[in-house]
Parts: sequence; structure tokens; C-alpha cells
Amino acid sequence: MELLNKEMHMLFPTALFTGQIPDLSVADRIEKKLYDLKAAGQGTRDSDRVFISQDDLQTLPEFKELSDLALLESHEILNVYRIKRESHYITNMWANITHPNHRHHMHIHPNCLLSGIFYVKTPKNCGPTIFGDPRLHARMIEPDFTEQNVHNSSTFYSMPEKGRMVMWPSYLSHGVEIGRAAENEDRIVVAFNIMIRGVIDRQTARLNLR
Ligand SMILES: [Fe+2]
Repeated sequence: MELLNKEMHMLFPTALFTGQIPDLSVADRIEKKLYDLKAAGQGTRDSDRVFISQDDLQTLPEFKELSDLALLESHEILNVYRIKRESHYITNMWANITHPNHRHHMHIHPNCLLSGIFYVKTPKNCGPTIFGDPRLHARMIEPDFTEQNVHNSSTFYSMPEKGRMVMWPSYLSHGVEIGRAAENEDRIVVAFNIMIRGVIDRQTARLNLR
């Protein structure tokens, strides 16, 4: 005997949104501007393997196309979640220029709703972006699996591809896995955060987001 009308409901899904920019020259112009900023010392050097730009890139004319795209795409994503708001905006936008094999620890971006990246320069076999299962307690018992699939994986790898934008809810932990690039060529990613403006009016608290 077997059940009739069987269904598998996917509860509380975690969505990752991604797409490719139609005009790759946007990435080329951004790359040039970032090297200009780096040469001018506009940013911080974590080590000789990491350069982090200023975090208000969205205010620079050279980043207008990318900022407009991030605002448009995040508008659609906020609509997927049916989030009430007056408007939304980019809280900060910055770039990481790193060694292609540089690893970055898992972290989240607090005080925003959506986070995203745009791959500007992606040397062959440079480090992938890694996302972690937010349901930590789901790994309390970790059996051996015959194969990895969407139902048993605790990590997801996003392979860097020039011109690709990836966005996710900001609570999702992410990092950069170690790369296997043979050449010492820069990996460049622009990252950004999105927040809403408006009033959240609940019995517990009234949040006025400006
Ligand atoms: Fe991050």
C-alpha cells in the first residue's frame, strides 16, 4: 500500500536571485574606475592580497548603470516578498580586489534586507562565492549521503562569471571559498546592500526607516 495524491511541500524556501548583465562593457568601465581609485589610494588595503574600496561607490557617476540595475532588480525581489515600503535604496556599495585564490570567511550583512554582488573580473578557477544553509539546527545529525542534492546540501557554490549579479536575503551567510587559479590575476567583485524606507508599525515597536 502506498499513499495516494502524494505531495512534497517546500517550506520556507531560501531564494538566491541571479542574472547576467546585457552589456559587459559596464563591467569593463567599472574595472577601470576601480583601478583608478586603487591607484589614488581611495580605499583600504587589508594585506597585499586584498584591497577594499570606499563604500559609497553608488554615488559615483561611473557606477550609475550598476546602481540603477541593482535598484531595479531589488525592486522586483522586494515585490516577490511583498514587502511594504515607501521606497528602497542602496545603503552601501564597495569593491573587493583580491588575489584570485583569496578566501573570505562566512558572514552576514546586518541592518539591511537584501545583499548582492556583481562579478567584475573573474580569472579562470578563482574562488567561488559560497552560501551556507541558514537552518544550522537542521545539521544536528548529519548522515552520510549517496550524493549531494538540493535536499541535503548545507552549502551552495556560485561560480564567478563576469557580468553576473547575484542577490539574496541579507540573513544568508556567505563567503569566498579558496580558489585554484594558476595565474596571479585580480578577482574583482562589487558588493552592495539594499534597505527600505517607510514605517513598520507593529504592536511591539514602531520603526521609522529613513
Ligand atoms: Fe559579504
